[in-house]
Amino acid sequence: KTLKDLGDLSGKRVLVRADFNVPLKGTTITDDGRIRAALPTINALLGQNAKIILMAHLGRPKGKVVPELSLAPVAQRLSELVGKPVTLAKDTYGEDAQAKVAAMKDGDIVLLENVRFNPEETSKDEAERAAYAKKIAALGDVFVSDGFGVVHRAQGSNYDVAKDLPAAAGLLVEKEVNALSKATENPERPLTVVLGGSKVSDKLGVIENLLSKANRLVIGGGMVFTFLKALGYEVGTSLLEEDQLDTVKGYIETAKKNGVELVLPTDIVVNAGFPAGDTPVNPEVVAADAIPADKMGLDIGPDSQKLFHDKIVDSKTVVWNGPMGVFEVPQFADGTRAVAQGLVDATKAGAFTIVGGGDSASAVRNLGFDEAGFSHISTGGGASLEFLEGKTLPGLAVLE
Ligand code: 3PG
Repeated sequence: KTLKDLGDLSGKRVLVRADFNVPLKGTTITDDGRIRAALPTINALLGQNAKIILMAHLGRPKGKVVPELSLAPVAQRLSELVGKPVTLAKDTYGEDAQAKVAAMKDGDIVLLENVRFNPEETSKDEAERAAYAKKIAALGDVFVSDGFGVVHRAQGSNYDVAKDLPAAAGLLVEKEVNALSKATENPERPLTVVLGGSKVSDKLGVIENLLSKANRLVIGGGMVFTFLKALGYEVGTSLLEEDQLDTVKGYIETAKKNGVELVLPTDIVVNAGFPAGDTPVNPEVVAADAIPADKMGLDIGPDSQKLFHDKIVDSKTVVWNGPMGVFEVPQFADGTRAVAQGLVDATKAGAFTIVGGGDSASAVRNLGFDEAGFSHISTGGGASLEFLEGKTLPGLAVLE
């Protein structure tokens, strides 16, 4: 169900679960992408003159009030973006929330304080969560689920509350589901999937699901060293998950059997160790099968950057999740930049391209790429990965 199914919302109290889990440095938001992604739904509701009651989490305060994880900076930024006041309630469903909601006029916006300050929000006890969700539900007339980044969680404010009120997906959730489905169910081919990030163990489900769907799998990031080791290469002090070696060998076999082209880097940028603090770095390019025993791989090398870029451009659908290297350090950002540029060039050539959430989405923005150069930048981290794994996501299932 989508927003339209909720009918006329004018004057109604619309409870909206958003994902405002943004990166913070102190009280400064370093990437407001998730807040901007919520604007279409908020503006649509403003256009209907609804009363908008927003719910969100920030970080993992584990059921305690952690002042550093207050949504105050989010309320401030959102207010700048929508051009009107956003009132922050001091609690999620207590006296202050109730009073602030009761005082709302049509077209007003209230943001409830971090839902994860309440232990019930993430409780494993369903009855406890359900009782809590009823208290939240009492604040609204309808529920809109727009926090795509949390749809893989079954938590009070995104899952249980949907059972207590007429509920529908917001415009962001609708857009995310459409984009990710377009890439995975019946994609235009070739379908190239680019995976990076530190751990292969975070991506097992995705690789398993996509080994039967993709035409090409391009692998970089910290996880690639487990692949290189599985091929018999030495990887120095690079990240390695010994316990996944057999699994990865299995993937290499399956790729061959299924005719999936597996693209691995041919050269690697290495350094004496992981860059820490102000310690100077000494990047060096070596062949992927000749990483010195005392060196750590931190990015894909220039030949691999070209190779990955060209493979991406030679695609009709591209899904990318995970940086190619330690992109936060300029000397190890070129691999991630080359992949992002590949997606931009592929998009220009008519391909459908998705940047799958989390670190890759912030990388794209922090490296200065224009969001318009990609067909879709997902706001989900874990959620987009679980979607690509082909799993049923509780926060979506509950809306059906
Ligand atoms: C995210 O950052 O991926 C979402 O906001 C979900 O956060 P979580 O992993 O703490 O549930």
